Amino acid sequence: MAIARQRIRLPQGAWRSAAGSLTKGDLWDGDDIARLEREFAAYIGTEDAVTVPSGRAGFRFLFDSLQLEPGAEVICSAFGYPVVPYLIKSLGYKVKFVDCEMQTLGMDPNQLAAAISQDTGAVIGTHLYGVPCQIDRIAASADASGAALIEDCAHCYGAAVGDRKVGSFGVAGCFSFETSKVINTMGGGVVTVYKKELGDRIRDLAGKEPRNGMKWLGKRLATTTFESLVTNPLLFNLGVYQALRLAPKGEDNERFASGYHGDEVSMSGKMGRYTNYQAGLGLKGMRSVGEVVARRKANAERLITNLDDIIKFQKPAGPDVFANYMLVTAIVPNLLALSDRLLKNGIDTKHLYMRDCSRMLDAPSAFPNAERAEKEVLHIPAHPHMSFAQIDAMSATIRRIVETA
Ligand SMILES: Cc1ncc(COP(=O)(O)O)c(C=O)c1O
Repeated sequence: MAIARQRIRLPQGAWRSAAGSLTKGDLWDGDDIARLEREFAAYIGTEDAVTVPSGRAGFRFLFDSLQLEPGAEVICSAFGYPVVPYLIKSLGYKVKFVDCEMQTLGMDPNQLAAAISQDTGAVIGTHLYGVPCQIDRIAASADASGAALIEDCAHCYGAAVGDRKVGSFGVAGCFSFETSKVINTMGGGVVTVYKKELGDRIRDLAGKEPRNGMKWLGKRLATTTFESLVTNPLLFNLGVYQALRLAPKGEDNERFASGYHGDEVSMSGKMGRYTNYQAGLGLKGMRSVGEVVARRKANAERLITNLDDIIKFQKPAGPDVFANYMLVTAIVPNLLALSDRLLKNGIDTKHLYMRDCSRMLDAPSAFPNAERAEKEVLHIPAHPHMSFAQIDAMSATIRRIVETA
């Protein structure tokens, strides 16, 4: 059986809850929004949390609420999700990049210390693929120069450093509930905030967005159902895998690299108002996610242990860091040749999810680690639905391919 790069599932009871909410009339507004915000803030350990229509919209409302000086400098890791620096630039701020480190793939704290100054208005610490960056050191630099620290926690629900959850280290943390994320409410997200006043300003802006309609709901349900079907092991083996194998290789194929639908680097369809219906799905997700994360972590650690002697993997910075391993990330030279051989042997992998943003935004200097990460980061499947037997069999195949390469 071939293994898909990721497994998307419809949130528990998605269709049933939609029908129930329609009947009760609490699809758009209701008590679940406030309940989710309260539970989320309590879980992360912040004063407040605000639901938003997407992770990127969370960044948008946050920057509109932070009251930074117009044109202030915002420091981001050169290796990351391009939407975020594009958005910040479009809001009139000056994006400054700092290179990533190769162990956590997050921002290098030493390089941040050299780059930060009194001109820096904000620093964004991004936790990639479920592995926290060195956020305590990044926070110390931001504090020392009076810059606001923002955490990008799109991948990192539940991850922690010591006894603190990510999303609680700075003035705010932005989470995403898009379909491939740890909590999936078919889009949406949360901004956690250290101070309630900031939360109120974000809530006010988010509340001014127009309400989505039935067309939006139908589209969300249809696309998520489609994603769950194409990544279902049976259907994946019956058709999708063959289609991937036959797809033309080369530059054109890059659009398949991130997900099966390509990557959307825009805000379109990502605004609107978060719904009470989604908040209900989020609450259910929060209650059941512990078990799923534990399984995901066990699979990831088994895969990494199996192959650690022949492949370099992204790893947490220390033993007190809790990673949720949203994705297992190998750093491999000759990525395209390897991913091609893996696909021929039934292992579908993912790459080019994060990019060297400095190149995309024409930064004046080069960032060698970000450049290398873009070329060498390969995600190997270890979904929570895979058994240890599957992980071990897949590891043996990968070992054979790497050792004979
Ligand atoms: C690191 C990172 N930040 C932010 C986002 C934006 O989240 P959303 O797609 O919910 O807007 C993503 C989305 O994948 C992401 O990967």
